[in-house]
Amino acid sequence: LMNDSEVTPFSVPGYACQRRCTLENHNAVLTDALSLLAENAELSDEDGRGVAFRRAAAVLKALPSAVTNMSQLTGLPCLGGHSLRVIKDILENGTSSEVESTKESERFKALKVLTGIFGVGSKTADRWIREGIHNLQQLRDSGQTLNRAQQAGLEHYDDIKQPVSLAEAEAIRGIVGRAVASVSPEAQIVLTGGFRRGKLTGHDVDFLITHPEEGSEVGLMPKLVSWLESRVSCHLQNVLLICDVIFLLMFALFCRFSLCCFIDKQTRRWRAVRVDLVVSPISQFAFALLGWTGSKLFERELRRWAGHEKGMSLSSHALYDNKQGRYIRASSEEEIFAHLGLEFIPPNERNA
Ligand code: CTP
Ligand code: MN
Ligand code: MN
Ligand code: MN
Repeated sequence: LMNDSEVTPFSVPGYACQRRCTLENHNAVLTDALSLLAENAELSDEDGRGVAFRRAAAVLKALPSAVTNMSQLTGLPCLGGHSLRVIKDILENGTSSEVESTKESERFKALKVLTGIFGVGSKTADRWIREGIHNLQQLRDSGQTLNRAQQAGLEHYDDIKQPVSLAEAEAIRGIVGRAVASVSPEAQIVLTGGFRRGKLTGHDVDFLITHPEEGSEVGLMPKLVSWLESRVSCHLQNVLLICDVIFLLMFALFCRFSLCCFIDKQTRRWRAVRVDLVVSPISQFAFALLGWTGSKLFERELRRWAGHEKGMSLSSHALYDNKQGRYIRASSEEEIFAHLGLEFIPPNERNA
């Protein structure tokens, strides 16, 4: 008797950091649905449920073809009862009633709009919703006190919602690169985050900066920010003539999370973009590079693997061996994977 290929179950390892996952996704309908439920859980402060849905979505993203039959899922890791119900609903009816009703719920819509404001997290959004604020106009009319980040976030809301293109990311890289070279000629800058994983758009642009000489990176961030700010105000009148794209404002928030604005010379339009800048000492560079490349779930799974399977603690700064009571050095991502007993996964296959 021949096995029907439709019921040959898929097989994947249990941790996302053991799997190669490119941007090619054969199960986007299912993973979009599970990601929406994850987002709703995260916005409702139910992180455990959020992670469960994220892990389930990541397993489906790693499959080599589309799921057509529930029996193909037998034995797959990370697929809990709730996720399986959602998948079954979609395979049988084309949609999941839970996903559809979540998407349409006033609370979810309000949480999405309010947390879409730079500087607003789920707790603040929840408090506002309890005070009857569900949209931007109601927020503006409410007279709520907003901090500097939130004021900028509200002002540039539409720009920040709009995805950043790779071309914009590269233009911004050029400007930040010039600024870095001016304040510290030997410093290095690398594009991390989703763009390093091969994405063509992002919700922000992530940069990691380091200096080949340990210690020389100290004080680099404030110098960089003030260089950008001063430069910009001096040349305000001429910017349109000098550069294709130029920073106009840069708010350094919490040292590393920033919002910048630039003018696109071609369209002559303002555009605000989120930029994450991180400075790392060279001794921690490999850990910072690995930690800031993502995806978020891939990072979470790396830390879970390190803790549960290897008795180690991994962060964007270091790897610590809990049993031996010592830090483990590494000067490349490859070395970190090797210390963790994992096969090296290149950035473009970390799209869990
Ligand atoms: N990160 C982090 N600490 C934060 C925020 C982000 O360590 N407070 C890490 C995440 O773990 C992720 C990387 O920074 O690995 C990039 O995060 P983010 O920019 O949010 O996501 P991207 O994958 O770049 O997605 P997008 O293209 O939407 O920006
Ligand atoms: Mn990013
Ligand atoms: Mn980021
Ligand atoms: Mn840190």
